[in-house]
Amino acid sequence: MDIDLNRITAQYVAWGQDHAFALREISLKVRFGEHIAMIGPSGSGKTTLLQIIAAAMRPSNGSITLGGINPWSISAHARLKLRQSLFYAPQIPPLPPRQRVVTALSASRLPEMGIGQSLFNLVYPQYTKDAFHTLARFDLSEKLWSRVDRLSGGERQRVGLAKTLMSHAKLWLVDEPLSALDPKRSRQAIQVLIEEARRRGVTLVMTLHQVDVATRDFPRVIGMQGGEIQFDLPSTEINDDHLRRLYAQNEHEISHF
Ligand SMILES: Nc1ncnc2c1ncn2[C@@H]1O[C@H](COP(=O)(O)OP(=O)(O)O)[C@@H](O)[C@H]1O
Ligand SMILES: [Mg+2]
Repeated sequence: MDIDLNRITAQYVAWGQDHAFALREISLKVRFGEHIAMIGPSGSGKTTLLQIIAAAMRPSNGSITLGGINPWSISAHARLKLRQSLFYAPQIPPLPPRQRVVTALSASRLPEMGIGQSLFNLVYPQYTKDAFHTLARFDLSEKLWSRVDRLSGGERQRVGLAKTLMSHAKLWLVDEPLSALDPKRSRQAIQVLIEEARRRGVTLVMTLHQVDVATRDFPRVIGMQGGEIQFDLPSTEINDDHLRRLYAQNEHEISHF
């Protein structure tokens, strides 16, 4: 589905506080099948923008359409259906304690299961074969029957990515997937995600801390700062000046630059 954001403003409402803008007048078009990386210092609005695209957060101003549909002008039920056609992978995957990895992975297919099958899935996990092969791509197949709360941070993060691969969604919104991974695992994880997204024609929007990964592996890179888009360029056009300006006052955050 194409994504179209028109002058989106987003604001978190907190009691007793000024409501600072997390996003200011963001306009953005993403075509079906594109791969985009979003970079920028902490607090620049990357996660908020992903949540807006995921129709998980309502903009305070501006309009958004996903595949031509405005998620905020349809019924809550229709919005739920729309959300099920995309997969949002938060930075820290919400994995219920005591759940087994296999159950967490098969849960990615809940949108296509009926109620009976999804309840059955809690006791007798479905798609165990697919789950096994998906885990294997992240060197985790031996953890198929492990409890998620027994995994290390890096393993949990890779389970989150395996969940993304298990879903049949055509839009993947992935938030900082490499934060708990060492360089070798990062490289492997990013390759698997990109390769699989390309093979399936999935639209991929990923926020990244690793500037080098963004500019090397993604054709289009968006630089965010202070809730605004500072640049939106083909990665081949991004130079050191762009990056220095983007991370001005946040130089300590650029680890690979
Ligand atoms: N749940 C929240 N409540 C209030 N403010 C928030 C919340 N989440 C994020 N913010 C604020 O919104 C801004 C953008 O945050 P975020 O989108 O998480 O940035 P990034 O992902 O680039 O680090 C920041 O100023 C942050 O403090
Ligand atoms: Mg974030």
